[in-house]
Amino acid sequence: MTKARPPIAMLAELTHRCPLSCPYCSNPIEMARQDSELSTDEWKTVFRQAADLGVLQLHLSGGEPATRRDLEELVQAAREAGLYTNLITSGIGLTERRLKALDAAGLDHVQLSLQGTTPEMADEIGGYNGGFKRKMQVAEWIGAIGFPLTLNAVLHRRNLHQLPRALEMAVEMGARRIEVATVQFHGWALKNRDALMPTREQAAEATRIVQEARLRLKGTLVIDYVPADYHSDYPKRCMGGWGSTGLNVAPDGQVLPCHAAQTIPHLSFDSVRERPLSEIWYEGSAFNAYRGTDWMPEPCASCERKTVDFGGCRCQAMALAGDPAATDPVCIKSPHHVDLQARADAHAAAENAALVYRTAPGKAPEPAE
Ligand code: SF4
Ligand code: FES
Repeated sequence: MTKARPPIAMLAELTHRCPLSCPYCSNPIEMARQDSELSTDEWKTVFRQAADLGVLQLHLSGGEPATRRDLEELVQAAREAGLYTNLITSGIGLTERRLKALDAAGLDHVQLSLQGTTPEMADEIGGYNGGFKRKMQVAEWIGAIGFPLTLNAVLHRRNLHQLPRALEMAVEMGARRIEVATVQFHGWALKNRDALMPTREQAAEATRIVQEARLRLKGTLVIDYVPADYHSDYPKRCMGGWGSTGLNVAPDGQVLPCHAAQTIPHLSFDSVRERPLSEIWYEGSAFNAYRGTDWMPEPCASCERKTVDFGGCRCQAMALAGDPAATDPVCIKSPHHVDLQARADAHAAAENAALVYRTAPGKAPEPAE
């Protein structure tokens, strides 16, 4: 068994509830219901256990984490545990008063998602009328309070032409970083491959734009880039390698090696309600299933890149090849690679594909001012 080091980062999915209905949502098809969510005290215990385990960065996510009324209290508890706190939000549900309270609670960083650079695009993709306008207002408050800001733009066939404007907006907002992520097809997003798959030409153009902008904006804006997976020849190093640097805690307390791990049917997951986090990380069967390289079959087992990408993404291997231990079909050495490229082109050529919106178990209530 590969000896694990402590994790660096933990993603706390505080809730699956969300006012938006993005068709590329990577949350599972079956979402955790509100009545199964960890309580405030349970989350506080998890944060202390995470800090003891060695976690340095806590990403507070969802769904929309602002849907949790106890968000400020949770941030404060995480800071008291010694964790660096990053709020990943659509901005919907945040008011100026709440942002100030989050600042007072010690929130270190905000990551704001961008569904598009115009109200028409953003509101259509998020499925939420008026969302763009509110998000721009939230961005102003974030800037005025002085939170370090990262923009998070998910790009796909419908909005990839807006990439240059997204980069401009990041600079105008004073963001230090932008994450340009070409849509990844996990969870709900798999239903929308016909509607969202970029063309090969769009994917290449996005790479060119990012390369040019990285040179031009050096020292002003850091650009993290997730290229279009299905059009690549090598897979991404998903989660930095399974069970190596990060872990996710789902709203109901299940601890996952990645956000899509529940799509791998033979894995069973421990809950923070039943086992300490440290024991789950080091001894949990799900974390040890694909840790390191010992589990790899060929061609990964004898490949010179096996410690570069760790065979790609286990969940993608499950979704596309039906075997989570298979080489990620994105890889040129996978027997499924040629078929995947053809499927990607077919998805990208699909005409008039309607967006299949994510449905949520409960809409977020409007925040009180
Ligand atoms: Fe990575 Fe496996 Fe492909 Fe080698 S064969 S590049 S290890 S996915
Ligand atoms: Fe699960 Fe990549 S999303 S390993």
